[in-house]
Amino acid sequence: MQNILEVVDKKYMTQGATSGSIEFQVFFSDHASNDFNTLFSSLPPSRKYFAAGVPGSFYGRLFPRSLHLVHSSYALQWLSKVPEELLDKTSPAWNKGRISYTSSSDEVANAYAAQFQKDMKIFLNARAKEIVVGGMIVLIMPGLPDGVHRSEFPLGVLDDSLCSSLMDMENAINGVNLKCQSLLHGLINESQVDSFNLPVYAATPMEITEAEISSALESSYNKGTQLIVALKRE
Ligand SMILES: C[S@@+](CC[C@H](N)C(=O)[O-])C[C@H]1O[C@@H](n2cnc3c(N)ncnc32)[C@H](O)[C@@H]1O
Repeated sequence: MQNILEVVDKKYMTQGATSGSIEFQVFFSDHASNDFNTLFSSLPPSRKYFAAGVPGSFYGRLFPRSLHLVHSSYALQWLSKVPEELLDKTSPAWNKGRISYTSSSDEVANAYAAQFQKDMKIFLNARAKEIVVGGMIVLIMPGLPDGVHRSEFPLGVLDDSLCSSLMDMENAINGVNLKCQSLLHGLINESQVDSFNLPVYAATPMEITEAEISSALESSYNKGTQLIVALKRE
């Protein structure tokens, strides 16, 4: 945060402002259940900005129109919810025996992709109402290059290795190769495992562009807004 503010300060100095003449206010936002006290006590005492916390989901309005710079780091991979089809046993997108989409069927992956589009559009529309003309949005999130199969997202490796570790454990105990979810027998039941899915998605550049095009950031009022998205392949 300090780095960003130093760059903005330097930019204003090139336009004739004296150092420190611009005052900054930084709002840190997270779910209301976030431990804001720990956040505030970890801020550097010598910081050159006023700090405040704003509770709430970023999939909704959080601010009046007042923001010059919006920055989100490693948070937008979290969907607002698990796509509903995944929990419907009659749906082809029912995600039995898996906790993610990365090694699941195309129907499951499509349901995640559709949820990401809905969520990203809601996020961008909310920010479009909060950012001033000429403002900037900088987003960093895990992602995948266009054309790379979803199974290469590291979360998929986690999903697969969790299942295979459990399978190995069960094999060692019983000498029987059972499905990973049955390994949790006694702790949680199979239907609880089937109903658990991680609401995490790694988007591609094309998917980001699609969400941007369908969002209000494209409206004439927001034409001056710059959106910069860095998708990091873990
Ligand atoms: C991996 S942490 C990243 C934290 C920090 N931005 C960083 O770069 O270190 C993801 C954060 O996003 C928050 N988060 C996830 N979904 C959210 C939502 N819908 N609205 C607000 N915050 C959310 C989580 O509570 C968590 O604090």
